[in-house]
Amino acid sequence: MKGKFITVEGTEGVGKTTNIQCIAQWLDERGIAYIATREPGGTALGEKIRDLLLDKDNTGMAASAELLLMFAARAQHLEEKIIPALEAGTWVLCDRFTDATYAYQGFGRGLNLEHIERLETLVQGDLHPDFTLILDIDPELGMSRARTRGELDRFESEAIEFFHRVRAGYRERASDNPSRYCRVDAAAPLAVVQQHIVAALNTFVGEG
Ligand code: TMP
Repeated sequence: MKGKFITVEGTEGVGKTTNIQCIAQWLDERGIAYIATREPGGTALGEKIRDLLLDKDNTGMAASAELLLMFAARAQHLEEKIIPALEAGTWVLCDRFTDATYAYQGFGRGLNLEHIERLETLVQGDLHPDFTLILDIDPELGMSRARTRGELDRFESEAIEFFHRVRAGYRERASDNPSRYCRVDAAAPLAVVQQHIVAALNTFVGEG
C-alpha cells in the first residue's frame, strides 16, 4: 500500500467535521493526493446500508444485525474505494472506521470483542489505519452540541450511558496502542485542538 490511511473517531458532537477539514487542509498544504470518505457509507451501496442503520424507525434492530451491516458496508467500501485508492498512492481520510465498531457495537452494545476481531480479519485481512485521531469529549457536552443539529438519528437517540461506554472503549483502544492513535481533548478551544492535530500529523510523517 503506497497511500496512507487516516481515520477520525469520537462520540457524537465531538467536532469531527471541523477537524476533518483541518486534516484536509494539512494534506492540501503538502500537495498530498487524498480522498475523503466516511463510514458507514462511502459507496452507493454503503450509503443505503447507512440509511438502514441510522433510521430511527428501525427500533428492533438486533445488535448482531447492526454489527454485520457495519461490516457489510465496510467490505464494499474497502473493495470499491479504499483499497484501490491506497494502491494508487492516494491517501484516504475516513470519517470513522473499525474503531467505531469496537467502541459502539463492542463497548456500547456489549457484543463480544473477539467476534468483532474475527469479522475485522475476514473483511480487512491485515489492513488497518496508519493514523487514527480520537476526539475525546464528555458525552454530556457532546450530546448537547449534537442536539442543536436537528433531529436525532438511531444512535444519537441512545441514552447517555451508552456514549459513556463508547467513550471508554475509544480511550482503552487508544491507550493500548499509542503509536497509531492520537487522542485529543475535544473540549479544548478549537485552535488548541487543531494545533495538537497538526503536531501529531507532523510527527506521523516524520516532520515533528
Ligand atoms: P456519523 O453520523 O458520525 O458519521 O456516524 C454514524 C453513526 O454510526 C454514529 O452514531 C456511530 C455509528 N457507527 C457505529 O456504531 N459503528 C461503526 O462501525 C461506525 C462506522 C459507525
